Amino acid sequence: MGKTDPAKRIDDLKKLIDLHSRKYYLEDRPEIPDEEFDKLMAELRRLEDENPLFRTADSPTQKVGGGVSENFAAYSHNPPMLSLDNSYNPEELREFDKRVKKGLARGDAEYLAELKIDGLGVNLIYEDGKLAQGVTRGDGKSGEDVTANIKTISDIPHSIKSPAAWARCEVRGEIYMRRADFVKLNEARHEAGEEPFANPRNAAAGSVRLLDANITKSRKLRFFCYALYVFGKNGNAMRDSVLKSQHEMMQQLEKLGFPVNDAYKKHSSIDGVLDEVAAWEEKRKKLPYDTDGLVVKVNSFLDQRELGATSKFPRWAIAYKYAAEQAETVVQDIVVQVGRTGTLTPVAELAPVLLAGSTISRATLHNEDNVKQKDVRVGDSVIIQKAGDIIPQVMKVLLEKRPDRSKPWAMPKKCPACGGEVARAEGEAAVRCLNRRCPAQQMEAIIHFARRDSMDIDGLGPSRIEAMVQKGMLKDIADIFNLDYASVAEIEKMGKKSAGNLRQSIEAAKGRGLEKLLVGLGIRHVGERAAFLLARAFADLDALAAADEAQLTAIHEIGPEIAQSLIQFFADAENRKLIEKLKKYGVSMEGSRETPAAQTLAGKTFVLTGTLEGMSRNEAKELIQRAGGKVSGSVSKKTDYLVAGSDPGSKLDDAHKLGVTVIGKEELLKLVM
Ligand code: IVH
Repeated sequence: MGKTDPAKRIDDLKKLIDLHSRKYYLEDRPEIPDEEFDKLMAELRRLEDENPLFRTADSPTQKVGGGVSENFAAYSHNPPMLSLDNSYNPEELREFDKRVKKGLARGDAEYLAELKIDGLGVNLIYEDGKLAQGVTRGDGKSGEDVTANIKTISDIPHSIKSPAAWARCEVRGEIYMRRADFVKLNEARHEAGEEPFANPRNAAAGSVRLLDANITKSRKLRFFCYALYVFGKNGNAMRDSVLKSQHEMMQQLEKLGFPVNDAYKKHSSIDGVLDEVAAWEEKRKKLPYDTDGLVVKVNSFLDQRELGATSKFPRWAIAYKYAAEQAETVVQDIVVQVGRTGTLTPVAELAPVLLAGSTISRATLHNEDNVKQKDVRVGDSVIIQKAGDIIPQVMKVLLEKRPDRSKPWAMPKKCPACGGEVARAEGEAAVRCLNRRCPAQQMEAIIHFARRDSMDIDGLGPSRIEAMVQKGMLKDIADIFNLDYASVAEIEKMGKKSAGNLRQSIEAAKGRGLEKLLVGLGIRHVGERAAFLLARAFADLDALAAADEAQLTAIHEIGPEIAQSLIQFFADAENRKLIEKLKKYGVSMEGSRETPAAQTLAGKTFVLTGTLEGMSRNEAKELIQRAGGKVSGSVSKKTDYLVAGSDPGSKLDDAHKLGVTVIGKEELLKLVM
């Protein structure tokens, strides 16, 4: 056997490294140990050193920002970020109260109860009021410097008005994701064939540790803080000389402009704390984010100091954790749904069971690997849990209850909706139906197009769309704009009036413009943010369709993945036909970029003086500049026009002296037109 071709090996290594760095950094799901990854990288580096001609700019060894193999810089927390002791029932909380009282000379304590936010602990370091570093909790002693990512979180101030004596302060808190944002993110990942995150906490943690801060920015992360440490010029800890208690500290954090969860409350005894624990058990489910319990802290800093800490957690605080809501039920069937982009999703049909206040009869099984890994079978008894209290998930199978002769589940070899071919792309979790005309895909595409976030067609919800698809009235999204309203009125329960209303909302949708249209078209990787950016950058859909990768990636935040997906979309003849059809029916393709004004004032120089009625100096300046004119500060021989309002200054005399034409606002407007 001859030596392996270095060019081929380099190529393979690049692909392999890119794949694994995606899994590690973007998906938070590494498949190989770090050592193995580092070995691949070392081999690539060696081969490139030996064959420098094969070293290309897109090689993982050449990437800026530290390259893929470099982890975040380490940062030592001082004081360390301790963990919390846990309690799970009122008795354990009373035990904590006893320990606290015993540990304090005065034998009594006041408590502060706070919500325990289910996210990722971070430490924000401010130097002279400026955010200098953002670090993950890590192992408590040292964490990862994720400053660039932290800075994209809008809840986190980049500068604060702290007293001059505070040379450095550290703000500690929790980064979290709201449930609604988590659901949206997972939907997008699912459509893109990426693994969904298990819960909002994992999604937040995964998003903070990304290598690309632009992606972090798109993840809608939020922040609540619960601790402040203050240091003077020579590094001396000075918080406890300015603040006396946990309660004062929370108020100070609020004053500094930090988001503080306002549920914090003082209690003079553990009974009060227990009442609050009971009250939040139900109330917390109505919050838009996940909480896994309460944190109970001794309020006074003096008392906290007297109690001290073990090596793991403070003796002055404890977490009270609510039990995760789970239920047992039986899998009656495993069906497969076909999504808009053809993704086949296995769904467990369950014997109806009550969980967290609602009856559950289905649970997503996400994808083929998930079913295999948990080995969920029809007939199995399973434990289900609500992820983020929204999507029920199958947590585990109760093997001891498995009926005899049950069979492992397998993904169907053909699309269950159209019988077409299915395939799973390399590196993807999703199996997809390859038939573009698959009726299930078409219907999902139409539903997506009409949704509020897309073209917002009031009155065109999933059930109506389903009825219209079944009657053959809708085959693709363009058909929406060519409906026969006499037949629409005949659809069950519709009538003339509803048909008339629907017609109105469809007419209104024609004018939504490029941004909403792009969301509606459901192009892979083009979500709301990308659609917004693209619609601002291009005059219309034709201009966007004609753009090449370089033009697309020149737009800040648009990367090669989005660019390639757009190029592929517009290269497809079917898609181009669909767009022509939409155009024919009068759907607006206009971008939101301001159309350039006619350059009527090109080559002319203007000077402004006095007050123009109903137009500020800046507005007048912009008007002139947009029309191609120049605005100068003083009158000279080169000045073409002096625009004079009421109370003009000495510029009017200058203009008269130099024979410059003097005009008013009305004449200016005429010149521009
Ligand atoms: S106090 C020494 N307060 O829970 C005090 N932590 O399970 C330690 N957490 O690492 C933290 N909400 O990331 C505190 N109101 C809150 C909290 C909170 C969430 C997290 C934090 C901590 C973990 C311990």
